[in-house]
Amino acid sequence: MDKKTPLILSLGGSLVVPNGGIDMEFIRSFYQFIKEKVAEGYKFFIVVGGGSTARHYIDAAKKITGTISDWDLDWLGIHTTRLNAHLIKTVFEGIVHPRVIANYRKKIANLKEPVVVAAGWEPGWSTDYDAVTLAKDYKAKIVFNLSNISQVYDRDPKGNSSAQPIDKITWKKYREMVGENWTPGSNTPFDPVASKIAMEHNLKVIILDGRDLKNLDNAIEGRSFMGTLIE
Ligand code: UTP
Repeated sequence: MDKKTPLILSLGGSLVVPNGGIDMEFIRSFYQFIKEKVAEGYKFFIVVGGGSTARHYIDAAKKITGTISDWDLDWLGIHTTRLNAHLIKTVFEGIVHPRVIANYRKKIANLKEPVVVAAGWEPGWSTDYDAVTLAKDYKAKIVFNLSNISQVYDRDPKGNSSAQPIDKITWKKYREMVGENWTPGSNTPFDPVASKIAMEHNLKVIILDGRDLKNLDNAIEGRSFMGTLIE
């Protein structure tokens, strides 16, 4: 892959905090992997999601209040992405930009570090949208969506034994599958609002299981990989 433009990684919170506990082993090996790719000349923006922490807070706030606006639920989610992003930034000390991006209106001038960590931004969407925004702003062509699913299926594989994995799909077909609407804490493979912008800007998104770093390396290096390419 072209090393001149940065690679955008949307690191699902499900990998950082699966079921509420911090996956230290994953974070350690992810850091080693990125450090090696940086030594090869790659640059990265890593947008960190909220994962189960976001969902725990959103569910608790819903249950306690009974009525809470999507705006407040999204803010709870955004704060969890900031917490997780700060953890990743701390681990990446030495190769990472000193500030976690939380306001996407300010572009970083004279970026020197090979890695930048970013968190959630504003209510109304997810870190997938933020990743697409970074791709637009920093002229990246591809977003890697790292989560705990290895491929997108043509229908929900839970309870649907005939669901088929998809290797490659167009934005048009993908968007027909996931619909238009966004709800706080929602869990589609790539968020519908982000998908619309990605399609309009001709971006590619690769969805894969971020725990398999060898497979991620294959995708980065243009070798065959297990995942779903949306273009
Ligand atoms: P994400 O949904 O992006 O984290 O943010 P995640 O669940 O870890 O991501 P994936 O799906 O695994 O990749 C958690 C919540 O934070 C709010 C939303 O409510 C979202 O569901 N959020 C995040 C925002 O409102 N705006 C943002 O820019 C980012």
